[in-house]
Amino acid sequence: MAESVLTNTFVHEPQPTPRIETPYRRIRTALPAPETVEDLRKAASLFPVVNCYQPPVIWDSADGFLIRDRAGNQWIDFTSTAVMTNTGHGHPAIRDAVVRHVSGGGLMGQFSFASDIRIELAERLIGLAPSHCDKVYFWTVGSEAIECALRLARERGLQQSPERFHILTHQADYHGWTLGAHQVSGDSARKPWLATPDSAIHHLPFPRLPGQASESVDWPAFLHENLLRLAWRGITPDKVCGVFIETLQGWGAVPLPTDYVQALRRWADEHGILLIFDEVQTGFARTGRLFAHEHYGVRADLICIGKGLTSTLPLAAVLGPGEVLDLLPPAEITTTHAAHPVSCAAALANLDVIFSENLIAESERKGCIAEAKLRQLADRFPQLIADVEGLGLLRGIHIRNPQTGELCRETARDLTWEAVKHGVMLFQVNRPSIKVCPPLVIDDDALVEGIRALGDAFESYLESR
Ligand SMILES: Cc1ncc(COP(=O)(O)O)c(C=O)c1O
Repeated sequence: MAESVLTNTFVHEPQPTPRIETPYRRIRTALPAPETVEDLRKAASLFPVVNCYQPPVIWDSADGFLIRDRAGNQWIDFTSTAVMTNTGHGHPAIRDAVVRHVSGGGLMGQFSFASDIRIELAERLIGLAPSHCDKVYFWTVGSEAIECALRLARERGLQQSPERFHILTHQADYHGWTLGAHQVSGDSARKPWLATPDSAIHHLPFPRLPGQASESVDWPAFLHENLLRLAWRGITPDKVCGVFIETLQGWGAVPLPTDYVQALRRWADEHGILLIFDEVQTGFARTGRLFAHEHYGVRADLICIGKGLTSTLPLAAVLGPGEVLDLLPPAEITTTHAAHPVSCAAALANLDVIFSENLIAESERKGCIAEAKLRQLADRFPQLIADVEGLGLLRGIHIRNPQTGELCRETARDLTWEAVKHGVMLFQVNRPSIKVCPPLVIDDDALVEGIRALGDAFESYLESR
């Protein structure tokens, strides 16, 4: 396999591909498609390297669970555009709602003025949220929702005691890129640039290693041991204001053990600490529940949402009780584009689709199909697959280097590109995993065909070495 097949910049030389023609997949050219190479070069010259790490395909159009380029190639989408397009690309109901809203004079920003559509969406979300969540604080992207939850947890803590400002979170979680969200995230390798890291954000060990059987450990004891270690360092529960949980760890779709989350809930209740679930990636039917924390059978004090709230346009929010969301005085933090009326129109239509097309149950049902097929793939390629994880249609294949047996980001990257050449759109996670997250509207046949094509891609990867 050629070096630099898919590194942190696009590969520009068209690579040989198998020609594929099925009702779902069409690969008719070498990839990247020769007619797109010039534009890929332009992209590489115009965008920073950090933005040039995905497979070199110029998306031209997409609908439902299919993506096309202008050279006539077509892919089954296993990305949902970074786990966002839950109801599928360009759903007609969402498109019509957006067009209707814009044509009716609704193409206006609104800042903090109220509007009917914003009120309608807030009422709808509160109706869907757990009963103690009676307010919605709107934002534009998920990272902002995390910043907001961080700020609210600290405001609340500081109102209780001047020493109550410590935040707990988990190692290897991802919560976003902005300063606070980045620090709540757990990838320490990415943090040397922080000149003065927030010393009151503490990362608990994530309560599972990939592939580790959840039943083999006493997770409540594991939690309490780690909390005790913090207490020895002076971070006693009375100094903690909030705990963040990435509801499933997104990089590899890894759920937490239920008894761990339940023990954390009991501890938070005992000490009056907010438990904050980051549902930016997992919300809105992605895991076979409206919100993934429902799998753990616990209450979420604050719920951060984004991505699948619209399946399209930017919109995010924190859901929670007024007694917490009202802690900030008027105008303390506002943002220009939050709850843009066009995004609200998209969100309302998106929610209608989730319920009218029964996507919560469909996600769970199709998730069972995906799990069975992915387990077969793991049995077939033990040299490449360390484990498969996930719930609903949020699935992760944990990839190892076939030589060393170690989890390996580079092998995942090469397999990602091989899968794209076989007509399955994947995105590079930049961790040792491949994510299988198709739009929830995917046909059963396409789901099975896409996983079968992953097997073909893995086979060709092994043959080419
Ligand atoms: C779990 C989680 N939280 C927060 C974010 C940040 O959201 P955004 O990219 O919209 O800022 C993401 C984005 O991938 C995410 O997966």
